[in-house]
Amino acid sequence: PLADIGVTGLATMGRNLARNLARNGHVVAVHNRTQARTDALIAEHGSEGTFVPTSSLRELAAVLKRPRTVIVMVQAGAPTDEVLDQLAEVLEPGDIVVDGGNAHFIDTRRRESTLRERGIHFVGVGISGGEEGALNGPSIMPGGTPEAYQTLGPILESIAAKVDGTPCCTHVGPDGAGHFVKMVHNGIEYADMQLIAESYDLLRTVLGKTPAELAEIFRGWNEGDLESFLIEITAEVLATKDPRGDQPLVDVILDQAEQKGTGRWTVQIALDLGSPVSGIAEAVFARSLSAHAAQRAAARELLAGPTEAVSIDDPDTFVGDVRRALYASKVVAYAQGFDMIRAGSQLYDWNIDLGKIATIWRGGCIIRARFLDRIREAYEKRPDLPSLMVDPYFAKAVSEGQASWRRVVSVAAAAGVPVPGFSATLAFYDGLRRDRLPAALIQGMRDLFGAHTYRRIDADGTFHLDWSGDRSEREA
Ligand code: 6PG
Repeated sequence: PLADIGVTGLATMGRNLARNLARNGHVVAVHNRTQARTDALIAEHGSEGTFVPTSSLRELAAVLKRPRTVIVMVQAGAPTDEVLDQLAEVLEPGDIVVDGGNAHFIDTRRRESTLRERGIHFVGVGISGGEEGALNGPSIMPGGTPEAYQTLGPILESIAAKVDGTPCCTHVGPDGAGHFVKMVHNGIEYADMQLIAESYDLLRTVLGKTPAELAEIFRGWNEGDLESFLIEITAEVLATKDPRGDQPLVDVILDQAEQKGTGRWTVQIALDLGSPVSGIAEAVFARSLSAHAAQRAAARELLAGPTEAVSIDDPDTFVGDVRRALYASKVVAYAQGFDMIRAGSQLYDWNIDLGKIATIWRGGCIIRARFLDRIREAYEKRPDLPSLMVDPYFAKAVSEGQASWRRVVSVAAAAGVPVPGFSATLAFYDGLRRDRLPAALIQGMRDLFGAHTYRRIDADGTFHLDWSGDRSEREA
């Protein structure tokens, strides 16, 4: 029979996606640059469904139903462009090419427009959930044309994670919208992980809890509002012993965080959009700081820490404070991410439905969490919500958490524990709710040194003060 869909690039993600497709009843044509991977897939998993092994992209194209649908799962960047060039030679107008890697959405926009000229639908698809998700149900964020989604959508929805029967897959918007949303997903992932790491650091440093005790605390937190995949795996990592000895594994892992780039992209694009994703930015910077080993070694010798020890009267109360601070900070980080998606959607005319994004992030992806259902509800109730933070539920949650949040940030400062995520998100909260901001002073300075003008609260127009002359004001 002709195959329903093709997959080229059979490294772990591509292989697991192909298996997921086959297990869900699709006939899957598979291809890999080196044939050995194709053979291994058929030998090890051929019985899971119907695979059609092929040894060239031309052959892959020949065994596919029309319109042909090919998922490309190769490395982002030049390798992807190479495969797309080759595919364009063997496909026809109306066919659909899917890039399921972590491509930059600007590249996706370029590729979409190049392939569109040849009549080929190019769909950039964000896929989250790691290896396990690809096999058993990821969260899927497809961009591209609505026409392409008609063919592709049902297939992707069939392999996506399901929450309450709803697939974690929706048509995000045209061209690069899917990869943009996946990028922001990863930015939020960085922020969430950073906030969890700060909570761990505080509880360990200030209260002297052991990793095993902390694993129990996080396990408990996973029963409430914070329930999420990342909290669950935090408990698992903390409970794990070094296979080479008896100490906790976390104590022998080098404390220098790596990054493949999606968090950094999020911040770079956020700067262009004027989107203050401070929680994500601090998370990216914290990873960078951790990796500057030589600077850290030199600073350790010279830079003084607090001279007085911080004493906590009631450890259990402090644990509760950290939990509430974590939730409040997490709300801010997600609110910033959703604001950024709205800003991107406006600039690129994507018309992204934020409620639907929250819906497809409830399952399958790395940031899946109970509270995404709350975010879904907030945007369904009010699609034009100016910020998640002003949705009644979230406004109440952060307001109720603020006293704890402030105590935690003060204790951290006094104890010399860096909490860039907690403090940046608290500053964002205070910035948003402030009646008057010192931006007025900044505008005054800008006008003084550069005649950059200012606006007034009591009159329309822009003004300039004659700072070096008689200090009269004129309309600019
Ligand atoms: C996912 C993940 C995945 C990525 C990790 C690691 O959604 O499944 O986001 O795409 O591999 O985020 O990224 P870093 O190496 O940048 O931490």
